[in-house]
Amino acid sequence: MTDTDRQDLVTAIRSAIAAAPSPDSAMTQAVRLLKDAIPYYSWVGIYLLDGNELVLGPFLGKPSPHTRIPLGRGICGAAASEKATIVVDDVNADPRYLACSIETRSEIVVPIMEDGEVLGEIDIDSDRPAAFGDGDRRLLEQVAALLAESLSEE
Ligand code: SME
Repeated sequence: MTDTDRQDLVTAIRSAIAAAPSPDSAMTQAVRLLKDAIPYYSWVGIYLLDGNELVLGPFLGKPSPHTRIPLGRGICGAAASEKATIVVDDVNADPRYLACSIETRSEIVVPIMEDGEVLGEIDIDSDRPAAFGDGDRRLLEQVAALLAESLSEE
């Protein structure tokens, strides 16, 4: 996917979020647009922070056993605690990794933040090793910023 394709996708997601009747609908549509646009995004989901736990919201892909993740656990918990994007090229080599599917080889987790506070995060798994590059990080950080606006208007 080229930078232009990514910008077109961000534009489509921005429009869908702006037209969505609720934050829940905005998240569902963002998940759908990302999953449909990028073949190596095998599992796409959004977790929302509820107290000290991340709670699974809209997702596409195989059902995950990890519907609630404490802040200290998993790659998801680490990204929320560190308030930073985490890219893992080989999930099987990362002791923090909580397995969702045996096929998963790499993962990216991007916090959704507003005024320095974590509201939730975008979590994407790929069945390809080292699937996520700088382009994915930039794309998903833009989508996270759009979702932060939608969630904070609640
Ligand atoms: N792999 C994540 C758990 C969520 S599932 O991938 C959907 C983690 O290590 O936090």
